[in-house]
Amino acid sequence: MELHHNRQGWSFILYLCMWGAICESIHYSVPEEKKTGSLVANVLKDLKMDVKELSARRVQLVSKSTKEYFQLDPHSGNMILKDKIDREALCGQKDPCILLSEIVLENPLQVHRIEVEIEDVNDNSPQFSKKEFLFEIPEQVPTDTRFPLERAQDSDKGENGVQNYTLSPNDHFRLDVQSRSDGTKYAELVLEKQLDREEDAQFFLILSAFDGGTPKRTGTAQIKVKVLDNNDNFPQFGDSVYKVKVKENTPRGTLVTKVEATDRDFGPNADITYSFSQVSENVLRSFNLNKFTGELTVAGMIDYEEDRNYEINIKAMDGGGLSAYCKVVVEIEDQNDNAPEVALTSLTSPLPENSPPGTVVALFSVTDQDSGDNGRTSCTTETHLPFVLKASENNYYRLVTQQPLDREKAPEYNITITATDWGSPRLTSITIINVQISDINDNAPVFEKPAYEMQIRENNIPGLLIGLVHADDLDTERNAKVTYSLLPGKVIGQPVSSYVSINSETGNLYAIRSLDYGQIKDFPVTVRAVDSGSPPLSSEVKVRVVIVDENDNAPFILYPLQNGTSPSNDLVPRGAEAGYLVTKVVAVDRDSGQNSWLSYELLKATEPGLFSVGAQNGEVKTMRPINQRDTFRQKLIIGVRDNGHPPQSASATLSILLVDGFSDPYMKMVDIPKDEVVAEEDHNLTTYLVICLAAISFIFLVSITVFVAIKIHKRRKFTENSGLNFPVGPNFQENGGDAGAGSLSRAYNYEVCLAGGSLSSEFKFLRPLFPVFSVEPAQNQGVQRISAASHEVPSHAAEGQIINQMAPTHQEHNVHPMKPCTN
Ligand SMILES: *[C@@H]1O[C@H](CO)[C@@H](O)[C@H](O)[C@H]1NC(C)=O
Ligand SMILES: *[C@@H]1O[C@H](CO)[C@@H](O)[C@H](O)[C@H]1NC(C)=O
Ligand SMILES: *[C@@H]1O[C@H](CO)[C@@H](O)[C@H](O)[C@H]1NC(C)=O
Repeated sequence: MELHHNRQGWSFILYLCMWGAICESIHYSVPEEKKTGSLVANVLKDLKMDVKELSARRVQLVSKSTKEYFQLDPHSGNMILKDKIDREALCGQKDPCILLSEIVLENPLQVHRIEVEIEDVNDNSPQFSKKEFLFEIPEQVPTDTRFPLERAQDSDKGENGVQNYTLSPNDHFRLDVQSRSDGTKYAELVLEKQLDREEDAQFFLILSAFDGGTPKRTGTAQIKVKVLDNNDNFPQFGDSVYKVKVKENTPRGTLVTKVEATDRDFGPNADITYSFSQVSENVLRSFNLNKFTGELTVAGMIDYEEDRNYEINIKAMDGGGLSAYCKVVVEIEDQNDNAPEVALTSLTSPLPENSPPGTVVALFSVTDQDSGDNGRTSCTTETHLPFVLKASENNYYRLVTQQPLDREKAPEYNITITATDWGSPRLTSITIINVQISDINDNAPVFEKPAYEMQIRENNIPGLLIGLVHADDLDTERNAKVTYSLLPGKVIGQPVSSYVSINSETGNLYAIRSLDYGQIKDFPVTVRAVDSGSPPLSSEVKVRVVIVDENDNAPFILYPLQNGTSPSNDLVPRGAEAGYLVTKVVAVDRDSGQNSWLSYELLKATEPGLFSVGAQNGEVKTMRPINQRDTFRQKLIIGVRDNGHPPQSASATLSILLVDGFSDPYMKMVDIPKDEVVAEEDHNLTTYLVICLAAISFIFLVSITVFVAIKIHKRRKFTENSGLNFPVGPNFQENGGDAGAGSLSRAYNYEVCLAGGSLSSEFKFLRPLFPVFSVEPAQNQGVQRISAASHEVPSHAAEGQIINQMAPTHQEHNVHPMKPCTN
């Protein structure tokens, strides 16, 4: 625009010049920033006029620019500043900066060009576009590398523009200031010394720009240099070797140690990871390494007995691939974790029981895998056993016998071997050695009883088992296998083996032949028991074989005799009361014991209900008074039975005659001594109360005697007491002698009395039977023993002797009891 104006102005001036009005231009200069009203110049001189002319010609100042900076005083010709002028605002960097004006005069018209040059003043400082400039420079950049810097701007021109740059003092950079072809200055940073991020990761520099004015003006900016990391440092371990001790059996996860490496680099270049480097399988099994923290922990079983120490190489690597190594030496400390072990080398079992003291039973060793005290062992066994431990070198022990052994007392031993180590806590292992004791034939068979007595019934079948002997042998197996045999001997002149035999295995004793009690009552046998040991041992026992009587004899009826062609008759008066004793059946049995206990019963009778038989004593009595309808002749069949198994029996037939009084011819046969009958008259005898009879008769006799004695005594008193003389003495003696035989003799006497008329024939039959009767006092059983002659006949007397003596004795006594029969 101004150019345009100027051009118009110039063309106008040229026009005026052609017209001859405008010819020359006037040049003035004024510095910028002058105060308003300041004088720029006086135009009078240059216009060659005086003040009068000037005002007369109506001078005018016409500005060619849009704004009017000047004014002309027509009264003085002074051109003064109308306003403050900033050259930089008006012209920028245009140089020179000229303001055009025209002075116009009238009458004649005259135009003068005025050029006012605005002069520069240093009123601006150099300026950077930013307060701070950032440089990121890798630390490995070589020296002399240049980094161009931004130029500072200064609105002033020329000398007042930027003339020089400076940099705050520092170690690494210098400033290189250079000029461009147009004269402007610029600066470059030059690296003088190698950067090291690890020393200075960043630093700040002050860049200053100077202009050339007076006084100098400066502008500053900050330069931030950030050093970029380069992986120029290796990781580094705190220690190259770590030594740690770890107890064995440490649980999994326990921290062993922590390795740590550092890296001076930054970021990924300083990120370290840890790893095992060329380690053995054992290490991998036992340890674990944390990749990031470097913690070494227990990962598996740590066994001192397997590995006593480990060398573990650990590698640390940073993100840039640089690595370093360290070594961890792990020493394992022994723990007492192994109990001693007993290893049996040899064992003698079974051990013969006759092994002498000092015999080696077992040989064994004791080992402990631990070391030191943990591996030191001691060994013991029970003290109450007949074995003792003997230590040998190298932890070997011998178990030897110290006492004689007896298999029969202890057939086996469980020997407890206790092995203990010296660790803490002490560990113990127990081994039980079972020692069997083998048998030696040192025990003879022993019979259960010191002597045996066996019974066998007579008349046995041959081959019958008599009994059993048994011998035990404390030994075992063959040594205890007992066989039995009979020792040779004689029984009634014949070898014992013809009587009995023995089963050699079972000890059963058998009768070979039928035995007869009458022939032999007992005999001894000697049995020997032998074991099968070698040498065999034996023992013997006496066996007494007793033959037992058998019920092989039927009762024999002594009275009344049964085989007579005309059996004797018993007389019963028709006037007899109930309970009248008719007769007594007498029987004997040749057997002994129970077999000879007899009982009686009435089997058959002509008049049932008239007679009864005493079951025990065989007495036949009337049960009711006899009446006239009862027949004269009564027949009774009486059975006699013994108590054997099975019982044997016999029967007796009795013939009874019922008579009216004793006018019968039977009575004539009996001669009754009168005096004897009188003596007995007062006694009302009952047949079966024999003892009573005896007692009563005895008491009667005694009382009579006493009575008589008193009478005599009284008489003698009157005739001067001349000594005692009993006239009844013989009677008394006779009765006293009878007392030894007791009532039984009287009982017998009474029986014989009942025999009545058949007296003579009865005695004939009695005779051959006597030898088998016992002469001992009769037992009060069913049988009334015939023992009347006991005090007269020796028990061992031969048959003939007894017969001869018996007959008169009986005859003598039989006459006494006849009197009651006649009653
Ligand atoms: C720039 O300044 C430096 C130091 O301040 C000085 O050494 C140098 O001579 C100056 N250069 C110019 C052209 O004035
Ligand atoms: C020995 O031990 C065995 C097996 O445990 C057992 O059967 C036997 O009865 C024991 N013997 C003794 C004498 O304790
Ligand atoms: C009766 O038996 C006895 C002995 O058994 C005998 O001695 C006697 O001759 C016999 N009497 C008669 C008459 O058969």
